[in-house]
Amino acid sequence: MGKATIIDDSAYADLYSAHVNTLTERHDRALERAGAGHAVIFSGAPHGVFLDDYNYPFKANPHFVSWLPLTNTPFCYLVYTPGEVPVLIYYQEKDYWHVPPATPEGYWPEEFDIRVIHSMEDATKHLPATRDNCILIGEITDEAQSFGIDRVNPGSAINMLHFDRSVKTGYELACMRAASRRAVKGHRAAEKAFKAGKTEFDIHLDYCRAAGHAENELPYGNIVALNENGAVLHYQHQSHEKPEEFRSFLIDAGARVNGYASDITRTYAKEDGEFADLVIRFDQLQLELVAEVKTGVDFADLHLLCHEKIAELLVETDLANGSPDALIESGVTSAFYPHGLGHLLGIQVHDIGGHMGDDTGTTVDPPSGHRFLRLTRSLEDDQVLTIEPGLYVIDMLLNNLSGTPGYDMINQKKIDWLRPYGGIRIEDNVRVQKDGCENLTRNAFEL
Ligand code: GLY
Ligand code: MN
Ligand code: MN
Repeated sequence: MGKATIIDDSAYADLYSAHVNTLTERHDRALERAGAGHAVIFSGAPHGVFLDDYNYPFKANPHFVSWLPLTNTPFCYLVYTPGEVPVLIYYQEKDYWHVPPATPEGYWPEEFDIRVIHSMEDATKHLPATRDNCILIGEITDEAQSFGIDRVNPGSAINMLHFDRSVKTGYELACMRAASRRAVKGHRAAEKAFKAGKTEFDIHLDYCRAAGHAENELPYGNIVALNENGAVLHYQHQSHEKPEEFRSFLIDAGARVNGYASDITRTYAKEDGEFADLVIRFDQLQLELVAEVKTGVDFADLHLLCHEKIAELLVETDLANGSPDALIESGVTSAFYPHGLGHLLGIQVHDIGGHMGDDTGTTVDPPSGHRFLRLTRSLEDDQVLTIEPGLYVIDMLLNNLSGTPGYDMINQKKIDWLRPYGGIRIEDNVRVQKDGCENLTRNAFEL
């Protein structure tokens, strides 16, 4: 187990108490709706590897992390009762195989009534006596006991908490700005490593070193893609081989601060020329979409606007021909740009609740033909989300156009030119505001 607290307490201390107040209000309403008196929020249990005595890297329950900057403390419980100081049942295992969780310290402990336990069974002594008045929020496994609480993750409460979580507190925004700054250190190192002709694997290592993250601490597996590999949306390898020629580099990599993630993509050309110009043009397109972000905008509309812009770009670059409407309706834009414009971001990289219509659990489906769009909500102040248009040569999708009207609109010769570069994606993290947005990522790059 790692240290319990993480970096630079002074920056967060002033904001944290207001954050806890917001969580208090949200949980009061959620408990009222569930008709319960206490929320017991479990940090999570490690998962073991089949036929082995090792565990997969621990991933904490995001509901627990929303209260506490503790991402590596299994078998802890946060007990929230309206009107009372929340109780943290803090499991400090007596273990000489591992380093036990540190004694609580930093900006957060004073908000809690902390009960340190050394045996898992002792948790029961600190739980509310009336278990039938509790709800339990978290994943319950064989080892993790529910302590006789029958109402596990009731939709009445959970939907409300998930819906509310998209709007970030001042504390969360500070963590996310810091997560962008942390990732940008890695991105700068990665760009340098690409220009120096390093392998994907070595670029990845340079990223991790500069961001100060071990691989398991990253919010998601780094996407480090040279040349054609940039066309694989979630390219999962890091080649140890140097390519014969370095043409392009797409990196999608984030960082974490106090449990909050950033999710940033940049694309680079090795040489000046047509591909480099296309990356610059695509960066403008991405910024035009960022400029549309503000309170009240329907994100599905913004995604469709992105398809219009991609259609115009395809014509401008001679990759395809036709009116924007025809290129969209025939599926040509979706073949070049087959993912959504963005998603909510927070404790989870694809933060929960992107399809919620309200806090009762109704959902809003993506527009037909756009099933990978992860955010269909109307934007609200202080939501944080990504804006990540892309353009790729994915032969599987382009071949699917064969025999359809779309096939006649694409220009194979120009596609052959682009294929060796893979693709382009530019991804920023933005905070929605009344008349625009705060671009956490560009601000971090400007520092
Ligand atoms: N890094 C995954 C994504 O951008 O959604
Ligand atoms: Mn993303
Ligand atoms: Mn990403």
